[in-house]
Amino acid sequence: MDIKSAIQGVKGVKDITPEKIGLWRNVEAVAIDIFELYNFKEMRAPIFERTEVFKRSIGETTDIVEKEMYTFTDRGGESLTLRPEGTASIVRAFVEHKMYDPPGVTKLYYMGPMFRAERPQAGRFRQFHQVGAEVFGSADPAVDAELIVMLMDFFSELNVTDLKVNLNSLGCSECRPSYRNALYTYLKERSSGLCENCQGRIERNPLRALDCKSEKCKAVTAEAPTIDKYRCQPCQDHLEGVRRPLIDLETQVTIDPKLVRGLDYYSRTAFEVTSGKLGAQNAVAGGGRYDNLVEQFGGPKTPAIGFAVGLERLISIIEAQGSEVESAMFENRPDIFMIPMTSEAAVKVFELAHRFRAMGYGVDRAFDGGNMKSLMRRADRSGARVAVIIGEDELKSGSATIKNLSSGEQRTASFVDLGEALDEELEESV
Ligand code: HAM
Repeated sequence: MDIKSAIQGVKGVKDITPEKIGLWRNVEAVAIDIFELYNFKEMRAPIFERTEVFKRSIGETTDIVEKEMYTFTDRGGESLTLRPEGTASIVRAFVEHKMYDPPGVTKLYYMGPMFRAERPQAGRFRQFHQVGAEVFGSADPAVDAELIVMLMDFFSELNVTDLKVNLNSLGCSECRPSYRNALYTYLKERSSGLCENCQGRIERNPLRALDCKSEKCKAVTAEAPTIDKYRCQPCQDHLEGVRRPLIDLETQVTIDPKLVRGLDYYSRTAFEVTSGKLGAQNAVAGGGRYDNLVEQFGGPKTPAIGFAVGLERLISIIEAQGSEVESAMFENRPDIFMIPMTSEAAVKVFELAHRFRAMGYGVDRAFDGGNMKSLMRRADRSGARVAVIIGEDELKSGSATIKNLSSGEQRTASFVDLGEALDEELEESV
């Protein structure tokens, strides 16, 4: 026989198999619970957008836009891109659906896959998942603080602790230009020490060098000027307005004046949550303010802030901790496993299985026949609590054998009484 070689999945792109799905759903359900406690509403945006959506927001000089986007031309000749993150699409949708009208605070959350053509390594994938939240319509630092508290509530509900919040303010259009100039002058004098990429982009965006992963750039930027000396008083006060309530709630916050994020849309607040359990890619979540982005997308001036959590990284922390969250809340096992011993019995099983599912029971069944031993093995493997066996004798007498799969006890019930007998059996074995 001509056996074809198996086709492998794409590098950096992972399957989530049924053994893991309980944990994933559990994490997603906790996100929904916690975010909705804070009155966030779910938003589902498409997985691809016009390329312009990401270029205009994330920034032309960022690694994401420069080299990590999955961009393709569709049949109509339009350039489209698989979303590398969620914020840009949410802002596009916020403007498109005029969610700014009537004015007020709009809170949205989302979850789903994101795509970045990064070099795959531990904690860095080409398709990964985020849950994220965005708040539109308020510049109040209490929004920033409350958002960070919500994020930490989410982690603590999952028993993920020992996390650090690194917080910075990147300034605003008043104070950032003078910082940018100072940084530019510093880097220009040392440009031969920078990686080629940064040498090319310092003219357009010197802040990118602070976020560059190359050892050369890290060495040059170690002594670079930091934003804290350049922030205007309103930005300084805003940062303090974010930090103070967090400290009051005993959140572990460190002000890190060197924190810049890999996306250009941020102004003022920027933060990352890191875990010691993650190795080199230690950020489990990141976010910040983007007070000018709605306007850049053609909407009215609307301050906004958000974050996104990397689910693969979060799940790897939960797995490393061996926490009880892992013993999936959503374990999906049938209640009843049905075994037809003959082809006539199979017809009856088909009908009864449908009836029991309509009663709300999870039902699976054996297909393809087999001997009693192998059929019982299938029942055990299914994880069901009871097996319902119908063979020739049972069909003749109009009844079925019910076997409790944990005690091994058996009883018989007529087809008419079977529903009630299963109710009793399953109630007892809870
Ligand atoms: P980000 O920092 O690019 O921010 O991504 C957020 C989180 O997604 C990271 O902290 C990390 O856990 C995870 N992540 C990013 N790239 C990868 C990857 N290649 N593989 C695995 N996990 C990854 C944003 O995406 C912003 N949209 C956050 C935001 C929302 N800012 C404001 N609102």
